[in-house]
Amino acid sequence: MPVLVPEPHDPVCFRKDGKRLDGRDVDEPRPFSCEVGVIKNAQGSAVVRHGGNLIYAAVYGPREVHPRHLAKPDRGILRVYYRMATFSVHDRKSPAPNRRDNEISKVIREAIEPVLFLEAYPDSQIEVFIQIMAADGGTRCASTTAASLALADAGIPMRSMIVGIAAGKAQDKVILDLGDKEDKVGQADVPAVVVMKDKSISLLQFDGEMSLEEMKLSFKYILKGAEVIYKKQLEALKGKYETIRVNAKKESEEYQKSVKETSQKKPQSLLDTIVSKKTEEIKDTKKPKEDEKVQKSKKEQKKETKKGTKKSKKVTKKKTEEKAQKTNETIENAPQKDSEKGGKTK
Ligand code: CDP
Repeated sequence: MPVLVPEPHDPVCFRKDGKRLDGRDVDEPRPFSCEVGVIKNAQGSAVVRHGGNLIYAAVYGPREVHPRHLAKPDRGILRVYYRMATFSVHDRKSPAPNRRDNEISKVIREAIEPVLFLEAYPDSQIEVFIQIMAADGGTRCASTTAASLALADAGIPMRSMIVGIAAGKAQDKVILDLGDKEDKVGQADVPAVVVMKDKSISLLQFDGEMSLEEMKLSFKYILKGAEVIYKKQLEALKGKYETIRVNAKKESEEYQKSVKETSQKKPQSLLDTIVSKKTEEIKDTKKPKEDEKVQKSKKEQKKETKKGTKKSKKVTKKKTEEKAQKTNETIENAPQKDSEKGGKTK
């Protein structure tokens, strides 16, 4: 049975042993896993599980821009739609996109744009749809990670993969990858998106209070966490191409085997095959077909039975005529005898 957990107000984020409430160290990211090619109809797609976050991203394009007036003649446009499912948070989230959804869509778009070659797609658009199925703090960061995977899965050229992860501060300690409670009751939240090729930052937001030293430590943690996630991203992409490679190898082996088998049979020239085909056709036309044979034999049988009945009719006619003749004769003879008799009596 689902349990509705009340909003956390208790500011405690650490256990007595110094670890965080979920047992993590301060610089330890949450468990992360991802997969690509999960949505059949999308050009590219990904699913990301980051802590308690469950996020799907789907990419469509480059394709025609609707409405047309939004199209740019010198470059493509990127459109990002971040949406939370109504069941993704404790309170029911309205299905209509709100101000937060629009703001997060915008920051994710701005984090992705620098790594795309949008100048290569004039008059076109690339659309990224992000659906939050379960939210657990840091959804904008995990969404960026998912979007990057889906874009790579769609085969859209990118300068680099990007990874989103946040650092922050709770109970005066700098921490990496805030969970939902740490996000809500913590003293600071620094969501960032790292361009993995050159470790530059394409999104940086800041909420709360931090010293410069704490800020530096936050960036150190962010880069460390991003490396962990980046490895998983590459594994997911390589995994997909590994299965494609294995399947392609299997198919080519089967094809080569079939080619070998056919080549081992006696080679037949084109002329030979035509001649053999023609002779078979001629044989077929000479041979009465099975159906025709059956029909013929049936007709013959009918004819024979008709003949038989005609013959038997003729025989019976003859017999009856003979009988009639005999009886006539007997009738004709009978009065003569009577008259003879009568004559005698007279
Ligand atoms: O998710 P992210 O940290 O990028 O954005 P946020 O606005 O700081 O939200 C922090 C967390 O609050 C989300 O990850 C959700 O777990 C939760 N939240 C919620 O419970 N209800 C909402 N309507 C929005 C967010």
